[in-house]
Amino acid sequence: MKYLILICLFVFQAFNTNAQTMTNNKTLIIYFSHSNNTKQIVEWIQEKTKADIIRIEPETPYPSGYQETIDEMSRQNKGKILPPFKKVDINIQEYDTIFFGHPVWDMRLPPVVRTFLRNNDFSGKTIIPFNTHAGYGTGKSVNEIKEFAPKATVMEALSITDSNVKNAKPEVEKWVEKVLN
Ligand SMILES: Cc1cc2nc3c(=O)[nH]c(=O)nc-3n(C[C@H](O)[C@H](O)[C@H](O)COP(=O)(O)O)c2cc1C
Repeated sequence: MKYLILICLFVFQAFNTNAQTMTNNKTLIIYFSHSNNTKQIVEWIQEKTKADIIRIEPETPYPSGYQETIDEMSRQNKGKILPPFKKVDINIQEYDTIFFGHPVWDMRLPPVVRTFLRNNDFSGKTIIPFNTHAGYGTGKSVNEIKEFAPKATVMEALSITDSNVKNAKPEVEKWVEKVLN
């Protein structure tokens, strides 16, 4: 009986330490998602980390139709337009580690994501990028995060094809454990 209690105590302690590592309240998730693939990844990261979340939302939403969204994105990219985003209540200065998610658009960041990076101070933060895409990968998006948040430390990105998102929970959980340890 004495041994059983000791084993239980040991298991509880080990589990508790792990839980504390995964619930660092200085971790934030910032993301943009147009058709909610990236949002699904966010939900799994949040389940694991209990981090706070900021969803980047353009003041004028992108159109719902695919071609219309492509056209609007192309207009913004060509014109180097940084479309405004809705104000958020969370102060990112309270966080050290930031999971940063977005879809890959035109092999780059969506324009409103560039605006968000340009208008916030990421000095001294660690940015952990993740993205979803239709099969062509991360493209220039990580380089753009570095360009628009020059004083942050930017890690390698987790990149998931949109058609694989629904099966990606184990991969996401493993990745979260790896990057936070
Ligand atoms: C405007 C637009 C541009 C896109 N450009 C690319 C691209 O350059 N490369 C790619 O692999 N997928 C591209 N895609 C596909 C999306 O990245 C992919 O479906 C992603 O999972 C969508 O994420 P979301 O549901 O979080 O918005 C594009 C989609 C849209 C709507």
